[in-house]
Amino acid sequence: MSAPRKIIIDTDPGIDDAMAIFYALASPELDVVGLTTVFGNAHVDVCTANAIRILDIAGRSDIPVAEGAARPLAMAYRGPADFVHGVNGLADMPLAAPSRVPHALDAAHFIIDQVLACPGEITLVPIGPLTNIALAMLLRPDLAQHLAGMVIMGGNAFVGGNASPAAEANILNDPEAADIVFGADCPIVMCGLDVTEATVMSSEQIANIATIDNDRARLAAVILPYYRDFHLSHGGPDGIHVHDSTCISYLIAPQHYRTVQHPVRVDTGQGVGRGKTWAATRHALSAAAWAGRRAVTILTEVDSAAVVALELDRLALEQRAGS
Ligand code: RIB
Ligand code: CA
Repeated sequence: MSAPRKIIIDTDPGIDDAMAIFYALASPELDVVGLTTVFGNAHVDVCTANAIRILDIAGRSDIPVAEGAARPLAMAYRGPADFVHGVNGLADMPLAAPSRVPHALDAAHFIIDQVLACPGEITLVPIGPLTNIALAMLLRPDLAQHLAGMVIMGGNAFVGGNASPAAEANILNDPEAADIVFGADCPIVMCGLDVTEATVMSSEQIANIATIDNDRARLAAVILPYYRDFHLSHGGPDGIHVHDSTCISYLIAPQHYRTVQHPVRVDTGQGVGRGKTWAATRHALSAAAWAGRRAVTILTEVDSAAVVALELDRLALEQRAGS
């Protein structure tokens, strides 16, 4: 097997964020060199404490956590999605105190440091609002040239939104940042609602997690039902949409996805379409606003059963020690 791919996960944990982080840590194809936190599902200080707790539970307190933005680039924070993830971001379950304080650097400077130390090797995996990534790009306009790429959970190319009829939550939480990031000159993969809402972990699969004997699964078994109840009460599936873990599944098993390649812009207006990700498909008669942008790999179809089975297999694996 080739050397593990180095990744930095930018995250707003968050129930599905926790699952994605556990998934990445249990996958030998990946080397998680750090987590960076951002506001979103909860206030950023809560997300930072949760990121450290998640690493504690996985036995990976060797991995640094750098705290990032508390609010978007150009608007007020819309507020925590406590109705989805709980006030404490993890289903309001009683949680042990985090074992340590975050890294001395803020998220944007941590990302810049890590990327420039390993030029061409690091893939950014943002699974929350894109504010930290945009800030890092604004601080270092050449950052994208030193990235292996980005695999982003966010957006909705050919389906409706989940945070509004137009927009997906991570993008709507900072459309200005997202429009900057989707213009980066590096390989970008967009894991949007087109596939994440077609990826369902069923209530039965969630219930079976309780039979797995490890600390990661024990947390999953208590936080996923809360997330499932949100889906059930909002017209969702009898289970959960697998949003953030889709980035990990794509990184380790891209064969389970179909893709198209189009440049992407984000609606940064103040109208009803704010936060919508627009792919410039070939039939567009005028695409001047997309001119000069690299095509983004947009996931359009998924083998849901295959990727959910893969994630559950990795959840059951004994946790790998630090590399
Ligand atoms: O729309 C789903 C995304 O918003 C996921 O990243 C979830 O964690 C929330 O941040
Ligand atoms: Ca998230």
